[in-house]
Amino acid sequence: MNRTDFRTPDLDALAQEIIPKQHFEFSTETARDRFFKDTRMLDVKQHVHNAFRTNPTSMLDHMIGNLALTGTEDLLDLGCGNGFVLEGLRPHLADGSITGLDNAPAVLDAARQRLHGTATPCSWIEGSADDLSALGDDTFDRVMANYMIHYVPDLSRCFTEVRRVLRPGGIFQLTTDRTDSMLEMYQAHFTALKAMGAPEDLFRASPKGRLSLANGAPQLQAHFEDVKTVTWQDQLRFTDPDPFMAFYEVGHNHCCASSEPDERIGEGFLRELRSRVRAQVVKAIDTEGFFAVTKYTGSFLCR
Ligand SMILES: C[S@@+](CC[C@H](N)C(=O)[O-])C[C@H]1O[C@@H](n2cnc3c(N)ncnc32)[C@H](O)[C@@H]1O
Repeated sequence: MNRTDFRTPDLDALAQEIIPKQHFEFSTETARDRFFKDTRMLDVKQHVHNAFRTNPTSMLDHMIGNLALTGTEDLLDLGCGNGFVLEGLRPHLADGSITGLDNAPAVLDAARQRLHGTATPCSWIEGSADDLSALGDDTFDRVMANYMIHYVPDLSRCFTEVRRVLRPGGIFQLTTDRTDSMLEMYQAHFTALKAMGAPEDLFRASPKGRLSLANGAPQLQAHFEDVKTVTWQDQLRFTDPDPFMAFYEVGHNHCCASSEPDERIGEGFLRELRSRVRAQVVKAIDTEGFFAVTKYTGSFLCR
């Protein structure tokens, strides 16, 4: 076994059992006004994904490989968030340029500050990824949309626009997950919900189900001649429940159970949910030595 192939046949079988076919859906406004009204959610996720990973090749390393940068490219990042990825890519664009676009002003401002003073020219656009009318035809050598496409209202318009602003020979990288990524987190969550007799509609998969690594290629093939899928796996391993619980509660809104106001779900419900999830994590740490969260992620590379 390659030591970065963490998905065993047992986990594949478990995924069939655990991950619901229906997924959550959130509007781009919910994302802007709730999830990304500040950088907290992104900060927690980025820290945990990086600090607890087992794959020696980081997400940034995978992206650097995907994008095949020579240093002179003009790059557009759709849904750039707080600029974490752009900061990592910037040294590979020393003689190129960066344009970051996001519809959430607070995270866009964090990205601007993060890259302030660097020699790579940067511009920042507050707007939606399905309206690139501010940008000219054939303007970019690389366009990226990492872990954000499920929030974009009009996917077909977004891909038509990306095609328009991308220079011939350029690459569009769309990075997302499979809905059975981080299976063990969903298993602990759904086990706890079940024990609490929670409402049926909370048993839904990640909103990334709208365009996931499993179903995205046909949607992209309608707009791009060549769509290649590059996947990689990782395993987050926790020997202390606290960072996992921050990842679950703040980074993933309790697997979406607390994403939107819901009068059925008060603080008492969430406290009990956390306590039940935490008990499972502590048990795994006690018996296995760590709690594992196995990731299945990757990029579509479109030309
Ligand atoms: C999970 S974050 C990913 C951030 C960054 N791409 C990364 O990988 O670290 C999703 C980002 O998409 C942004 N977003 C949501 N809907 C958007 C839209 N319609 N157009 C542009 N950005 C959007 C959010 O504000 C947020 O910054």
